[in-house]
Amino acid sequence: MARLLLNPFTDRPLQLRFLLCFRDLAVSTVLSQSNLPGLKLIHRGKVRDVYALNADELLIVASDRLSAFDVVLPDPIPGKGEMLTQISNFWFGKTAHLMPNHLTGKRVADVLPAGIDSAIYEKRSVIAKRLTPVPVEAIARGYLIGSGWKDYQRTGSLCGIELPANLRQAGKLPEPIFTPSTKAAAGQHDENISFKQVVATIGGDLAEQVRAATLAIYAFAADYAAERGLIIADTKLEFGTDADGTLFVMDEMLTPDSSRFWPATEYRVGISPPSYDKQFVRDYLETLVWNKQAPAPVLPRSVIDDTAAKYAEALKRIAGIVLD
Ligand SMILES: Nc1ncnc2c1ncn2[C@@H]1O[C@H](COP(=O)(O)OP(=O)(O)OP(=O)(O)O)[C@@H](O)[C@H]1O
Ligand SMILES: [Mg+2]
Repeated sequence: MARLLLNPFTDRPLQLRFLLCFRDLAVSTVLSQSNLPGLKLIHRGKVRDVYALNADELLIVASDRLSAFDVVLPDPIPGKGEMLTQISNFWFGKTAHLMPNHLTGKRVADVLPAGIDSAIYEKRSVIAKRLTPVPVEAIARGYLIGSGWKDYQRTGSLCGIELPANLRQAGKLPEPIFTPSTKAAAGQHDENISFKQVVATIGGDLAEQVRAATLAIYAFAADYAAERGLIIADTKLEFGTDADGTLFVMDEMLTPDSSRFWPATEYRVGISPPSYDKQFVRDYLETLVWNKQAPAPVLPRSVIDDTAAKYAEALKRIAGIVLD
């Protein structure tokens, strides 16, 4: 049986929230927005701040910003950017035999401007090869959920792929499929597209490479996760090419922001199983009267703490890492 930590004053078990307070004090840094004077900021995304170090390299800083319904929320989730970066780095390492990735392996501390506390940036940043993004979102799905489930209900197919009749919500697909989507501009929503449309956008050769790499990475990761009691329902990857046209996987990889992880023990067909992604925050927001346009409502402390705990649990279960 798991040992409970007791409150020394009351002898009652400590609440998760108190434990997280201690954890936060001791460890994770909080960063809503990076500020690195002297470095050239070229993009502030929903989560990442991207700096150009030179013509070939980027410094990518994952902040603690959280977006839901494509709107950035006002409250940061302490340590989230660190946890996302550690999960991505873990998977980039594990899948390097399948596909080259954007990591250079260079040390972040070496490029930070003088006077910047490297402890704030080291665990949440990487130095990456500067690539030309492939303008589609590369999604692999093993299960029918989210926009995939919605499209299937409407059309019986998904991204032009005919699927068997009578599939249910969260049902396992006969085999994993590639379901690309558009890369929408800020504030817009991505839309599922067919493989034909991908070919029309980036050419047949690159489209085939992206599809094959996406499915290979998904299959590998799904097997790996299954051994640890987790189902990866779907995942979204981003790719880029270098000056020679070589394809790399970039951005983030198999994090709770880009993927749906379900604990296998809680998986049921016919419902949306609980996951390590942002469903938790979305569920809270759904209880409010909010039109899903910026500005987003503030989150109660308990939702922030529970969300941070979800990310920490994902990092531990996936990569076996506890941030200290
Ligand atoms: N190695 C790389 N070379 C060039 N661009 C990259 C590289 N890695 C990541 N990017 C880009 O950096 C940005 C990171 O920002 P962020 O992750 O916050 O995403 P975003 O633009 O808000 O979109 P989304 O929420 O869909 O991921 C993305 O535009 C991504 O395509
Ligand atoms: Mg992104």
